[in-house]
Amino acid sequence: MIELAGIRYAWPESPPVLDGVSLTVREGEKLVLLGANGSGKSTLLKLMNGLVQPQSGAYRYGGEDVTPARLRGGEWARRFRSEVVLLFQHPEAMLFNPTVRDEIAYGPRQLGLADAEARTARWAAALGLLPLLDKAPFALSGGQKQKVALAAILALEPRVLLLDEPVSSLDPRASGWLVDFLLDCGKTVIVSTHNLSMATELGERCLVLGEGGRPLYDGPLQEALHDRALLESANLVHRHRHRHDGDTHAYMHAHTHSHDWESSR
Ligand SMILES: Nc1ncnc2c1ncn2[C@@H]1O[C@H](COP(=O)(O)OP(=O)(O)O)[C@@H](O)[C@H]1O
Ligand SMILES: [Mg+2]
Repeated sequence: MIELAGIRYAWPESPPVLDGVSLTVREGEKLVLLGANGSGKSTLLKLMNGLVQPQSGAYRYGGEDVTPARLRGGEWARRFRSEVVLLFQHPEAMLFNPTVRDEIAYGPRQLGLADAEARTARWAAALGLLPLLDKAPFALSGGQKQKVALAAILALEPRVLLLDEPVSSLDPRASGWLVDFLLDCGKTVIVSTHNLSMATELGERCLVLGEGGRPLYDGPLQEALHDRALLESANLVHRHRHRHDGDTHAYMHAHTHSHDWESSR
């Protein structure tokens, strides 16, 4: 369904942020994109959403090259845009409608779907947003905005969900709902995280990106999580001094562990 071959991408006047990324994702597969801050996860998801174009390498969706010419408009672009959707890491960038209702209905209305209102109600209910439908998105909390952005892309009922650190500002109930939904939905899901304990909930396969967007590993997630050398080279765990409270002498020592509590921002 999704094929990347030898993708290289550099932002203007910068070193590469994706360097030799090759990847095949089958329909219905759940892939976790693991990497430290700055490893290129968001850039890769934008590329798969057709928002940035690789400088070299190929991106194929459903066997067809995703090219600037194809994305410019017409039936192909319309189908791609409705089938492949991205939840941005910072969803406030996506929200521009006067109300939550309009925000969720926007995509289905753009596609001219007759059931836009029914879809809005369905996905607002799924995410617990019914009490907020008449509110302005900009007046919501960060987590509420993320739920609105999620409802807005789910209302398109896409085939491929690209989710950029979706649980970073969701509360536990919404995170739990999302994990259950993703496992059961049958869609192709590519989800980025730097949270190792969350990763196991999101899929069974992972791609690990290292510094400079170099792919370090593609395979079973559990194996990656037990490969300390891999995790250290990807900067997903590190060695530092650590205070153990509750000890009469509150001593410090060094060992490796992950920083799951760190904010993604
Ligand atoms: N719009 C942009 N313009 C220039 N550089 C960018 C832009 N977005 C990201 N970068 C740079 O690309 C690198 C990878 O960023 P990103 O893809 O956001 O990584 P991650 O999502 O893994 O934290 C970083 O060094 C970042 O500064
Ligand atoms: Mg990111």
